[in-house]
Amino acid sequence: MTQISTSTTSASTPELHWTCVCALGDILPGSGVCALVGGKQIAVFRVAGRVFALSNLDPFTNANVLSRGLTGSYTVDGQERFKVASPLLKHTFDLESGVCLSDASVRVPTYRVRVENDLPGTRVWIGDEWTGSAD
Ligand code: FES
Repeated sequence: MTQISTSTTSASTPELHWTCVCALGDILPGSGVCALVGGKQIAVFRVAGRVFALSNLDPFTNANVLSRGLTGSYTVDGQERFKVASPLLKHTFDLESGVCLSDASVRVPTYRVRVENDLPGTRVWIGDEWTGSAD
């Protein structure tokens, strides 16, 4: 797990708090890492050139394991979406919405993500929890 400071950094959107969690290169394509942000474990995934962040807690087992899950994709209305399967009971969650694909009443919290090309490299920032509502 990537251990980071719990301090927050103001960015271009002042009402949000952002925390730099790692370099993009720290996350192998198609996999996830776990970051501790403000005392919460957050699973950060790099899939298909995109970065997603959601709670590391599998709600079905109450274990912090999602960052170690297998990623994949599925198709909805012709659109490719991305998912992760929990390594324990294999429940799958949409990486963008956090919704469980086998039980839509269950949702894992998701977080805003920024990827910045700051020197000396490309870094990943995690922001506030994202509910999917309009900005
Ligand atoms: S915390 Fe290491 S690159 Fe941001």
